[in-house]
Amino acid sequence: METAAVERHYGSAGIAERVLAAFRAANGPDAPVTPEGLAPFDHFHGRGVAATQELAAQLALQPGERILDIGSGIGGPARWFAAKFGARVTGVDLTPEFCAAAEVLNAATGLTGHVTILQGSALALPVPDGAFDAAYSQNVIMNIADKRQFYREAFRALRPGGRLALSNLCAGPAGEPYFPVPWATTRDTSFLATPESMRADLIAAGFEIADFRDITPATREAQRRTRARLEKGDMPKIAVDIIMGQRAPEMQLNSIRTIEDGRGIAIEALVKKPL
Ligand SMILES: C[S@@+](CC[C@H](N)C(=O)[O-])C[C@H]1O[C@@H](n2cnc3c(N)ncnc32)[C@H](O)[C@@H]1O
Repeated sequence: METAAVERHYGSAGIAERVLAAFRAANGPDAPVTPEGLAPFDHFHGRGVAATQELAAQLALQPGERILDIGSGIGGPARWFAAKFGARVTGVDLTPEFCAAAEVLNAATGLTGHVTILQGSALALPVPDGAFDAAYSQNVIMNIADKRQFYREAFRALRPGGRLALSNLCAGPAGEPYFPVPWATTRDTSFLATPESMRADLIAAGFEIADFRDITPATREAQRRTRARLEKGDMPKIAVDIIMGQRAPEMQLNSIRTIEDGRGIAIEALVKKPL
């Protein structure tokens, strides 16, 4: 089963402690720990908090809405949504070490009552039917072999009229990614679908597509800056370095090459469950 290999790829001990140490090194020992301050260290996806902001803009949240984060990682985006919108956010993630880190960081930011973390699979979400007004999933679908089941579960968790915002790396025409990448050590846990099949799977699950954008150019631009700094070796540590450790620079360079060489297409999408 690929889920055990996914957990092995991501999991390690002491993640929250490393995140808090990086935060303190950057902000001083007495700085208040806030979701905004933690953002460089706990949003584990390309372009960091800027990408989270784009998903938030797509979702156009209303006060009091219930939000689901599918594949919530160490909880950075969930805390950011909770703090920014006063929302109650539920995060579901497969990797036990990530869920444990998320709980420590929720407590450190005073958000324990606002962000609920559930350890579980996106393919069998541990939430009732129709429980959420909005959902999002950032850079998770690349680890999912059974994409239709992923979308069916998101559909089930949303109320009629609910919205789902996605960021995903799709397969490019030029071949498979260069491994290891931040989301997978080998091809055994990387499942990139083409943009066409992502659309078809979403529609098959019952969603209406409100927006479907290729954001590869913006991603390339951000990656060019990352590459220059990685090659100079003066990169400040960010979430991927803290979470993935020694292999993080190699993973980031492979991810950059994957997109540069047409092996990955970055997609942002907004879909709706019909009323
Ligand atoms: C690249 S990280 C992104 C984390 C988070 N979305 C963020 O942007 O900070 C991918 C996440 O997907 C989670 N994941 C992968 N497969 C999953 C599954 N089947 N069910 C739930 N979570 C999964 C991993 O545990 C990991 O936390």
